[in-house]
Amino acid sequence: MIFVGELSDIPVGESVRIHGEVPIAVFNVDGELFAIDDTCTHQDASLSDGWLEGCAVECPLHAACFDLRTGRPSGPPAKTPVRTHTVLVDDGRVYVRESAPVVTAQSVRPAEAGHYAEAGHYIDEVAS
Ligand code: FES
Repeated sequence: MIFVGELSDIPVGESVRIHGEVPIAVFNVDGELFAIDDTCTHQDASLSDGWLEGCAVECPLHAACFDLRTGRPSGPPAKTPVRTHTVLVDDGRVYVRESAPVVTAQSVRPAEAGHYAEAGHYIDEVAS
């Protein structure tokens, strides 16, 4: 679990960037907190520098929008979702439980590929 900060450090409509395995952005949407990978899947823009539109964030570089609940982009140029993470608030302190890394065909060695494919991990999601 990653400590983000005090709830009061993330005002409504704002975001903060923290560092887990990769940078993570935490957004406050009308008092509800969401955490996603901070780096846009199109190029290397920081989504915490983007603009909140309801429950989506618009990438500051090429304007792809990502749904904060699912991580899915609403349209081009981004095609691949960002990971979403669990946010916990305990006594006014905010924490993020980072999701498991996404397994891609590129990140799996050939000897492991069959194992992951059989186990039904994320291979299908990243194949498109
Ligand atoms: S870097 Fe985010 S849409 Fe291009």
